[in-house]
Amino acid sequence: MRYLEISGKRPLRGELTIQGSKNAALPVLTACLLGDGPCVIENCPQIQDVEDTLAILRKLGCKTGRVGHTVSVDASGAEQFAIFGAEAERIRSSVLFLGALLGRMGEAALPYPGGCVIGSRPIDLHLKAMKKLGVRFFERPDTGTLREERGIYANAFHLHGACIQLPQPSVGATENTILAAVLADGETVIENAALEPETDELCRFLNLRGADIRRERGGRIRIIGKKKLEAVRYRLDADRIVAGSYLLAGAACGGTVHFRNLPAEQLAALLAILSRMGVAITEEGTLCAEGRLLAAGDVVTAPYPGFPTDLQSPLMAVLCVAQGVSQICETVFENRFRTAAELRKMGADITIEGSCARMKGTAALHGADVNAPDLRGGAALVAAALAAAGRSRIQGYDYIARGYEDICRDFQSLGADIRLTDDRDEKVW
Ligand code: UD1
Repeated sequence: MRYLEISGKRPLRGELTIQGSKNAALPVLTACLLGDGPCVIENCPQIQDVEDTLAILRKLGCKTGRVGHTVSVDASGAEQFAIFGAEAERIRSSVLFLGALLGRMGEAALPYPGGCVIGSRPIDLHLKAMKKLGVRFFERPDTGTLREERGIYANAFHLHGACIQLPQPSVGATENTILAAVLADGETVIENAALEPETDELCRFLNLRGADIRRERGGRIRIIGKKKLEAVRYRLDADRIVAGSYLLAGAACGGTVHFRNLPAEQLAALLAILSRMGVAITEEGTLCAEGRLLAAGDVVTAPYPGFPTDLQSPLMAVLCVAQGVSQICETVFENRFRTAAELRKMGADITIEGSCARMKGTAALHGADVNAPDLRGGAALVAAALAAAGRSRIQGYDYIARGYEDICRDFQSLGADIRLTDDRDEKVW
């Protein structure tokens, strides 16, 4: 059992480089399946979700390699179309193999995807979009090796372009449609496509490989299907959510932190809120936080460029020590306030009403034994513990490791007292 031990109330000081983006790495690695030859992905974070994606690629017959943060994927030998197994069940983004497998070989079989429990997380929009591209779904076979595997079975004898109108700008449904359409016959238009920077990274990667994908006015994406894609080398951007959670931890603890590669443009919604809270971030990417934070007023999560739902829990943690009352309304996922119960153990004053949480800031939180409810909730608890007086222990490190390469290394380099303890006999509190 691995858990974090943190002694809080130390200002953070120093410099930090933000790891490569998880939510860009996952679709980009999946897109390596579309075409042969070794693609090389630089700045690829060393996190569990990436390792799971690489394991799925190997299961399909791809060769993968890693030297530090550079990963190679050669799909030349990929002949399988089924990805059942623990890795695919663990991660939400395994659903992207639906589009990529259909694009590569016209057939796909996969388990229902996993990921954090932050809502019902249906995949109806993915399936509807695939049907428009000519995909048929069928029941699992009653003979052969797949007869025991529950999941999604699909094939497409002729994958063709279509006009797809998304009722909401789902990131996953947009990326899945792109992956299926990029080698399909003809033109595909996705109306109301997701605007998230990671979706644009997937398009940039595929265009570098020879795809024809354009972002048009109003968020529309137009894809002209190609016959073949080339192998390329591509460097991933910094992770805006990791950057955002570290900015928030810095705000909560106070101090001066210079971020060498802060994706400031992608964090505009957060930076506006931090500014309201009295935190300055220079153009060079240096955070300066002094004295008590101010309340943020009303914050509403929304698809990009709105305030990201993935930073909702970390912001909630920080607002618990800001002066005054703040409110966050969650509009993207319906079950994303589970961190509140853990923060209350640290002395936080949080009231939940429907999809809104109201935080009345206290002068200081105190250390406690808490459980990370999910990936971003885990990062929120780390921020709270770093700002709290006394010692905290955070269970559920495996959630955090899904998205943060080495949260201890990063905060230790800023002077924090944080360490990872591996105690196999430890009981869950
Ligand atoms: C992606 C991100 C995740 C982020 C989320 C929202 C990755 C790997 N994950 O997740 O970190 O929190 O975007 O920014 O990039 N929905 C449906 N039907 C569908 C698909 C989605 O109703 O078929 C709903 C979801 O339940 C949710 C909303 O649409 O309420 C947004 O989900 P979506 O944008 O698809 O999120 P993910 O792609 O799962």
